[in-house]
Amino acid sequence: MKVNTLRYSMAALALVSLAGANLFAADIPTAAPKAYPDGEVGRMVKLGEAIMNETDTHPLTKDFVGNKLKCKSCHLQGSDGKPGTAPGIATWIGTATSFPAYSKREKSVQTLQDRSNNCFMRSMNGKRPIIDSEASVAMATYITWLSTSMPIKQNTKMPCSPMNSDRWMGGAKHFGKMQKKATHANYLNGQKLYDAKCASCHGQDGAGIGTFPPLWGKDKAGKWLSYNTGAGMSKLNKGAAWVQSNMPLGQGGTLKDQEAADIMLYVNAQPHANFDLQKRLLPKEEMGYYNSKVLKEKHSVRSNFKAFGLDIDTIRGDHKIK
Ligand code: HEC
Ligand code: HEC
Repeated sequence: MKVNTLRYSMAALALVSLAGANLFAADIPTAAPKAYPDGEVGRMVKLGEAIMNETDTHPLTKDFVGNKLKCKSCHLQGSDGKPGTAPGIATWIGTATSFPAYSKREKSVQTLQDRSNNCFMRSMNGKRPIIDSEASVAMATYITWLSTSMPIKQNTKMPCSPMNSDRWMGGAKHFGKMQKKATHANYLNGQKLYDAKCASCHGQDGAGIGTFPPLWGKDKAGKWLSYNTGAGMSKLNKGAAWVQSNMPLGQGGTLKDQEAADIMLYVNAQPHANFDLQKRLLPKEEMGYYNSKVLKEKHSVRSNFKAFGLDIDTIRGDHKIK
């Protein structure tokens, strides 16, 4: 009884305040199954795991990636060292139980393979891999393994784990309201906080340091380093929800709401690649069927700010756009 009351109040807290999101995470399983499955399925789980950890350099996926990220850059490794088992927003535990699931973005029922492949065009700033290629099947096999023994509950609203749905949607709504009120002062506060709490790992120029991944900009050869403007992370509301739940590394849940909002206002005002869906899809003979009813979609830093009623030039003030 005591435990139930406690859980109930934790869940209620999570609904009222995003600071509760971290407490809510206490209910979320944080480890992969102890043993790999036998035979070919086990081999595919291991291959999927390797791809998640080395996406931009793995021979099966590197040609589809247009930045220096890996899936585990955002689907963080948990205490078991496996990608996607950390309890913050974007855990993969429970994800497979939701699929096939409805997606508003594609206006269609998406398979787990569709969902993973779409991340290549956006978060990975690349192209959509071929559906049913070995890499695509391996990633779905790995993610499915993380939901071993969990009951199926197909998601009719969003292509999202039951562990993520409420936190992701609640966070997006909550931070959306805050971001609509943002001014140049919030941008400057975001920069100050970024320099104090994030730059030690991600670099003052956002280019990343060593194995710490980049957040914006290009490398010396002119290649984009991080996610593009079609990625969830690039949206002022969703980016803030993810960061509050997961960063600074190992200290998820410590940023106040306004801090997370201002930091991502600053980060997402820096240069990120434009997104044009048409240019991200390979020719049909190569990519195969694209399971979506939406074939046109474009975003830029400017349009991502406009989506919250903000003008990027006013927000940045005298900080020139490069
Ligand atoms: C720049 C950050 C980023 C990178 C890199 C990234 N993702 Fe994601 N991904 C997200 C976010 C944010 C969500 C939405 C959060 C959520 O649904 O919990 C998401 C959601 C997902 C989901 C749905 C999970 C769920 O339960 O909601 C899958 C599956 C997924 N990503 C697969 C991948 C794969 C595979 C890769 C590598 C090819 C990848 N992602 C790379 C940020 C990223
Ligand atoms: C102690 C080092 C450290 C600090 C401090 C830190 N991060 Fe991270 N961050 C990481 C690592 C490491 C990853 C990727 C996880 C992995 O590769 O296993 C990451 C991933 C990210 C990502 C998704 C991947 C990408 O490159 O786009 C974002 C966004 C991010 N961090 C933002 C922040 C923000 C904002 C702060 C400050 C509030 C911050 N981080 C503080 C180490 C750090």
